[in-house]
Amino acid sequence: MSEFEPKIVAFVCNWCTYAGADLTGTSRIKYSANVRIVRFPCTGRIDYMLLTKAFASGADGIIVSGCHPNDCHYTSGNFYARRRWMVFKKICDFMGIDTRRIVFSWVSAAEGGKWAEIVNSTNEEIKKLGPYESYHKLSTQDILA
Ligand code: FES
Repeated sequence: MSEFEPKIVAFVCNWCTYAGADLTGTSRIKYSANVRIVRFPCTGRIDYMLLTKAFASGADGIIVSGCHPNDCHYTSGNFYARRRWMVFKKICDFMGIDTRRIVFSWVSAAEGGKWAEIVNSTNEEIKKLGPYESYHKLSTQDILA
């Protein structure tokens, strides 16, 4: 029987985390290959409906990552994202969405090693949790109803 390989979607900002992930590759640091990166201009642009859509589309885990506080290239987008995450987390708890499957982090363009660690640790954590079938079944039933 093959081992479960989680599908992880990473919503990242262009200026820091995407560049950090690029550095991971150019530095030849190995990390889990089952992460799919979706690049945004800034984490302030990330609408958390995207997260529920990612889960509904089959994701088992999600990473949201951008510039460190005070390093946002649009001044305060990451602060908006952080505030939005605090509210969204409560909504997730209320709706029964497993927030252990969502990782929020800051990764700068110089932190290729940190990006690899975040992806690998998220991958291991999601492997322990298993496929997010309960959400996938729920969302499919909702769509069909
Ligand atoms: Fe990176 Fe705003 S530009 S979080």
